[in-house]
Amino acid sequence: MLESLSSKVHDEGRQGEAYQPAVAAAREFRKRFYIESYGCQMNFADSEIVAAILNDNGFGATGNYAEADLILLNTCSIREKAEQTVRNRLHLFRQVKESRPGMLIGVLGCMAERLKSKFLEEEKLVDMVVGPDAYRTLPGLVAEAETGQKAVNVLLSREETYADISPVRLDSNGVTAFVSIMRGCNNMCSFCVVPFTRGRERSRDAHSIIRECADLFEKGYKEVTLLGQNVDSYYWLDEAADHTVTFAQLLERVALIDPSLRVRFSTSHPKDITDDVLLVMARYDNICRYIHLPVQSGSTRILQLMNRTYTREWYQAKVDRILAMIPDCGLSTDIIAGFCTETEEDHQDTLSLMRYARYDMSYMFFYSERPGTLAARRYTDDIPEEVKKRRLDEIVKLQNRLSLEKNKEDIGRTFIVLIEGDSKKSAADWRGRNSQNKVVVFPKGVSGLRKGDYARVKIEDCTGATLIGRVTE
Ligand code: 5AD
Ligand code: SF4
Repeated sequence: MLESLSSKVHDEGRQGEAYQPAVAAAREFRKRFYIESYGCQMNFADSEIVAAILNDNGFGATGNYAEADLILLNTCSIREKAEQTVRNRLHLFRQVKESRPGMLIGVLGCMAERLKSKFLEEEKLVDMVVGPDAYRTLPGLVAEAETGQKAVNVLLSREETYADISPVRLDSNGVTAFVSIMRGCNNMCSFCVVPFTRGRERSRDAHSIIRECADLFEKGYKEVTLLGQNVDSYYWLDEAADHTVTFAQLLERVALIDPSLRVRFSTSHPKDITDDVLLVMARYDNICRYIHLPVQSGSTRILQLMNRTYTREWYQAKVDRILAMIPDCGLSTDIIAGFCTETEEDHQDTLSLMRYARYDMSYMFFYSERPGTLAARRYTDDIPEEVKKRRLDEIVKLQNRLSLEKNKEDIGRTFIVLIEGDSKKSAADWRGRNSQNKVVVFPKGVSGLRKGDYARVKIEDCTGATLIGRVTE
């Protein structure tokens, strides 16, 4: 539990989740594929694009790898642990393949570029390696691999956004969906491998984003989360109309689809979130009052080494600004413990900044050196593991306290909750989220509410992770 408490960015509960066929199952398919996804929401969204491409090429999904003709792992490189998990899975699938010789195994996503020769040639673990910008070539690569050749395409693109592909929804609840609005990252935070694995930042055609969101709404979805590594730097040139679209404008257009469609977004880099975005948020009730604003560290010296381009004071001012413009805004963050040269004083700065921002929730990690990053080339990973873990533990404990404190403040308040389904613990209770992204659980009672409805819920009790309430008029 130390690596991360709970996570939307890296939802520990979803790691390794297999794609379950829903709508597509009725169609006749020539062959079956099985896909497992790791890492961030972008990767999960990409698996839905891969599923669409494979469906169009005669491959139907199966949730059972033993019957698959094609096993795909959509991988993550962000920390060493994520890579190790994938390796273990590949060894298992290799064994499955021994009894099913025609079966193909492919690695997709962020590990592809980094480990292509290791996986294909040295360890002979896989038949195909396909990078995040090469999914359109997947059918051709499968055909190549079927002839016994090793199929590889890890080329990164400056243009690919898969704008025209309608993702096949993983359909976990039919109420909330993720819509990718941009790919890649130009930020070069020194600890981060993403700019190398996912390439340069590029924004998706705004019309295709709005079409996808409107289409989801027509299908009954009630919430879309606009996804990107750095959504606030979304910038798209509409050549036909000869004007540009910023993130604030995009957000507004999505919010205008329908007042009953909730809009969220993730992730915001503190340096890029502007007053324009905050103004749009304040103007539309259906844009959720919640910002994920990764801080990474509370020490200006460490932030500089991380190449985050802001200071502690600048970040604090950003938090102040957000709360001045949207007083009820929920805030969450990402924190890395034990970055290179981090002293006890730096660590204390992180704890005090957490107290300042009073995050509702945090995704907390200890630093894991990634080959090829600026930090790996420039600095020594010099904080002993037990120190990293102890500091992370202190961060987690503080966050647990803050989350509980903040939740207690909500007791007595009433929120509009979008019902996502049954509570995990009891089918007699609904589970949903309020605008601030907090999970709310309440008894179904006799109110006739259904999944996908909005309910007014008065909060009566809480834990650190959940608000507990009752429907009110
Ligand atoms: N080590 C630990 N955590 C990392 N993250 C990114 N790279 C690393 C790394 N090398 C964390 C950051 C980022 C989140 C998605 O993952 O906090 O915001
Ligand atoms: Fe990585 Fe920084 Fe880009 Fe986030 S903003 S993906 S941490 S380089």
